Amino acid sequence: MSFIEDIKAKAKAEPKRIVLPEGDEPRTVRAAAAIRDQGIAIPILLGAADAIRAAAEAQGIDLSGVATLDPAANPKAAEYAAALHELRKAKGLTPEEAAKLVADPMYCGVMMVKLGDADGLVSGAVHTTGDMLRPALQIIKTAPGTKIVSSSFLMEMPAPAFGRDLLVYSDCVVNPCPTAEELAHIAVSAAKTARTLCGIGAPKVALLSFSTKGSAKHPLVDKVQEAARIARGLAPDLDLDGEMQYDAALVPAIGASKAPGSAVAGHANVFVFPDLQAGNIAYKITERLGGAHAYAVLQGLARPCNDLSRGCSADDIVATVALTAVQAQATA
Ligand code: ACO
Repeated sequence: MSFIEDIKAKAKAEPKRIVLPEGDEPRTVRAAAAIRDQGIAIPILLGAADAIRAAAEAQGIDLSGVATLDPAANPKAAEYAAALHELRKAKGLTPEEAAKLVADPMYCGVMMVKLGDADGLVSGAVHTTGDMLRPALQIIKTAPGTKIVSSSFLMEMPAPAFGRDLLVYSDCVVNPCPTAEELAHIAVSAAKTARTLCGIGAPKVALLSFSTKGSAKHPLVDKVQEAARIARGLAPDLDLDGEMQYDAALVPAIGASKAPGSAVAGHANVFVFPDLQAGNIAYKITERLGGAHAYAVLQGLARPCNDLSRGCSADDIVATVALTAVQAQATA
């Protein structure tokens, strides 16, 4: 069974309510029908009823049984607006602004998750990453014990890479320049993602650099060493090591020679990049040159919300909904 088929089977075992704010977007409508047919989750499409119906009819899709909600005619609008105002009044949000925001599908969807009317959210077929992330960061906030929201890319390799089918890359989406402390939290969150979604019971986490165990001296290397020290304090039982180069983390012979005695070097399955430029470039190289299938998830949010690529297919949306549902099972 492929990685994503396994995730879909897990999602089906305990279907969760996943809200799709881009509910009148054609790929999203197609995905919602497939999610209903396969029993992967309970999709909720947000948008004007006419627009959702038109998007379905144009594709010959029957949406019966799929829940829809028009944020502009939401019977819970006043409740959502009051809750949003309460959450954001210290930031200067007025009741009038809150009422306007909850009529926006993105904010309405995030409020549904916040208030327990949905278990997770998937968006981004139309919205940019920043526009999708900001409401989730402002309203859902971080999970207890986590300082920062970040992401992991789950890289499904076309053939085992030194015995590993799945590599977890973090952070490739959210934090442009993490501090040492933020990097440590990203590492701990990525290990949790490896356990929850990849079935990796004992993750081996490498904090990556252009240096292995002091082979180079530079403030950027110091930062990764400091991150490793903080992360060990946060998760003393986790197999975590750094700083190390990518090859020392991946290739057993190189790990043994560059970092002898390390339980992680040469055996890493979770790769933590020092900043967003490195992480984002690395996942694209692994995808394009290595032939990996890349699945992105956000981690560290109190409830799961996930971003899509604007070039996504309906199948990609179904896959992200399944991943979100499994995260929601672990959150409940
Ligand atoms: N974790 C938790 N909370 C955060 C984080 C974080 N990583 N980042 C921001 N926040 C919170 C802030 O504390 C703030 O909360 P508050 O309003 O309650 O005080 C709120 O989110 C907004 O923060 P800002 O700093 O005002 O938000 P900003 O406009 O800088 O946007 C964002 C944050 C969207 C995450 C930004 O850092 C960003 O654009 N990151 C890069 C996204 C991107 O383009 N990725 C690459 C493309 S994706 C791909 O290739 C797959």
